[in-house]
Amino acid sequence: MSSHSRRSVHFPPFAHNAPVPLRSELNAEVPVAAEGEFRPLTLSDDISVWPPVVLAPMAGVTNPPYRSLCRRMGAGLYVAEMLHARGLTEQNARTLHLASFGPDETVRSIQIFGAVPDEMETAARFLAEELGAHHIDINMGCPVRKITSKGGGSALPARPDLMRKVLAAVVKGAGGTGTGSVPVTVKIRLGLDDDRITWRDAVDVAAGEGARWIGMHARTSAQLYSGKADWSAIADMKDYAGDRIPVLGNGDIWEAFDALRMMRETGCDGVIIGRGCLGRPWLFRELAQVFDGREPDDPPHLGEILVILREHAELLVEFFDETKGMLEMRKWCAWYTKGFAGSSTVRDGLARVSTLDEMDSWLAHLDPSIPFPRSALRVKRGKRGRSQDKVHLPHGWLTPETCAAPDLTEGPEAGDVPEPCETPETADS
Ligand SMILES: Cc1cc2nc3c(=O)[nH]c(=O)nc-3n(C[C@H](O)[C@H](O)[C@H](O)COP(=O)(O)O)c2cc1C
Repeated sequence: MSSHSRRSVHFPPFAHNAPVPLRSELNAEVPVAAEGEFRPLTLSDDISVWPPVVLAPMAGVTNPPYRSLCRRMGAGLYVAEMLHARGLTEQNARTLHLASFGPDETVRSIQIFGAVPDEMETAARFLAEELGAHHIDINMGCPVRKITSKGGGSALPARPDLMRKVLAAVVKGAGGTGTGSVPVTVKIRLGLDDDRITWRDAVDVAAGEGARWIGMHARTSAQLYSGKADWSAIADMKDYAGDRIPVLGNGDIWEAFDALRMMRETGCDGVIIGRGCLGRPWLFRELAQVFDGREPDDPPHLGEILVILREHAELLVEFFDETKGMLEMRKWCAWYTKGFAGSSTVRDGLARVSTLDEMDSWLAHLDPSIPFPRSALRVKRGKRGRSQDKVHLPHGWLTPETCAAPDLTEGPEAGDVPEPCETPETADS
């Protein structure tokens, strides 16, 4: 517990249920789930996930404080951010701190990245045996240079031979595929770029090596976050995977009704949600409601959001310290207040706060009575919309038979936790 006294904060019931809940035009006619329409996701003999909704692993975002906030709002599976396997095998202090779980985490879910099978196996064993993880996801979709240029992230499915070795190693480290083992899943993108689509190979490898499911962000790595996620590719992937392995769809779910639409349009078995929940942990409450066949509560008004924001800040200060916690909090302040009229000046101030007291004095300028603006429902958050000209790969990556294998042992520094794939925006609305 930090030296800051924790206010006793309770999330208020979201009090203003209008007869027609706040929805975008796009979702105006989408019905809530019918009874029996969707099934829980099966992660293992002991763990089933209902609703079939997964909080996407996000570097710098899905740390214990944020996972805790989301969990208290709703239900589903909450995955810790990607950690480098070597950071775990070398017991790097920063990595281990990020790999910790809160006492309320009954399902301990975490993502690792790397391209060296032995290292990945050791990391998986450590997670399973020492940290008590219940689920290990492998990042095979990250598009950033720092990762792909060392063969990790989205570079791996472009080399199905190596992807197979890495996945087999993690499954082995996690105790195999039998009873009592820790389930392993993979998360990919469509491919490197339009000319190098890799998801079919990835499905074959994932199904063949005993992954429990495969999730796909329906953009290529070259796209980064530009354009629209291609949900039709998720439908193709579901057809291709058939009964071999469950498929989770990911990309551009901003409202709970988008999750229902994605599942209906693609037939996928579950959804992974990233940016839509940035500064909106109550999205998980709405998801639980619509999957249970109920209309969702309206989103909170600004005053209710500020209560959540304040609690989030306290949790971050407690988990890190005030300096690091408030540095982290700057981007959250932008996300929580995004789209509220008149908040941009305050956001400029919030983008520079260093203490809880400073943050409070900026927040005091905001009018707590403002309702959540309809225009903010689908506002993009978390990434800018640019693409990248090329995906950086190790030399000879795509022609391993003619080139010397790259030395993957020179991966990112031990304990290196990559920054979010791009700097999150802080001051736009
Ligand atoms: C700030 C940020 C950090 C991310 N970090 C990770 C990560 O650690 N591992 C990963 O597999 N994907 C990461 N992603 C990608 C998301 O998991 C997700 O695939 C992507 O945001 C698309 O889903 P969305 O449209 O719901 O946001 C990150 C995305 C954001 C916005």
